[in-house]
Amino acid sequence: MKVVPCPSSPLLAKRIAEELGTTLTTVNYKKFPDGELYVRVDGKSDEYIVVGSINSSDDLAVLLLLSDVLEDVKLVVPYMGYARQDKVFIEGESVSIRALAKLLESWASEIITVNIHSKEAESHFRKLKNLDAMPLIGERYSNKDVVMVSPDRGSLERVKVAAEVSGCEYDYLEKTRIDATTVEIKPKEMDVEGKNVVIVDDIISTGGTVVEATKKLMQLGAKSVEAACVHAVLADFAAIKLFCAGIRDIIATDTVEGVFSKISVAGIIAKNLR
Ligand code: R5P
Repeated sequence: MKVVPCPSSPLLAKRIAEELGTTLTTVNYKKFPDGELYVRVDGKSDEYIVVGSINSSDDLAVLLLLSDVLEDVKLVVPYMGYARQDKVFIEGESVSIRALAKLLESWASEIITVNIHSKEAESHFRKLKNLDAMPLIGERYSNKDVVMVSPDRGSLERVKVAAEVSGCEYDYLEKTRIDATTVEIKPKEMDVEGKNVVIVDDIISTGGTVVEATKKLMQLGAKSVEAACVHAVLADFAAIKLFCAGIRDIIATDTVEGVFSKISVAGIIAKNLR
């Protein structure tokens, strides 16, 4: 068994290979001047574990190209992008995650992901294991004097899992999404005055949700606010927006690799591959 690293997940692939006591397959990736991608895999194995988050359309193209060269594949997609388009919101729309599910399941014998965005998104797969990284976020804050806050009701169940592991209090705000970049958060009484608050979410994408939540928490007298998430997508200078809004720190897992990836999901993924 060999682990095949995709350009989106080199470090996590290496960590998973180490956990499994195996090595990486050498893969050559190239981008042509017109933006087209090229893939060549060196060496043979009886089974492959492909590790690659889908955080861009190029990441998806990489998996498509690998599907032409590799058979007997277990696929690990730590961050499953395209999952927020999980139903038809306006007639005529493509259900993006359903299209992805069809493609990936026609290739891989098993698919593992971490905190896919919604139950609806998960329902489009037949062979998906959806792992939960919230206990790992909870461990990071165990014995710390914090209050965890979910920015919306939808994430409350997830936040409850993290809070129960850490042993801290938790609460939620009520968010309404206006469009892809704008959210509104209702005023609400919450006991956060003088407390260190951690906003916990599955994804931080544009940062709009966390910025609005931070404003509300600061108005309520929070001593400090930081953000913890599974997938730090951080599109469009989101990290700058968060720090300018007064966020103390950003804590994320390595499903989307970056400077804020301070928690690794390698252990839970390897456990589910053994
Ligand atoms: C929404 O349902 C998710 O849980 C996140 O709150 C959302 O994806 C965050 O997006 P953004 O950072 O763009 O506000």
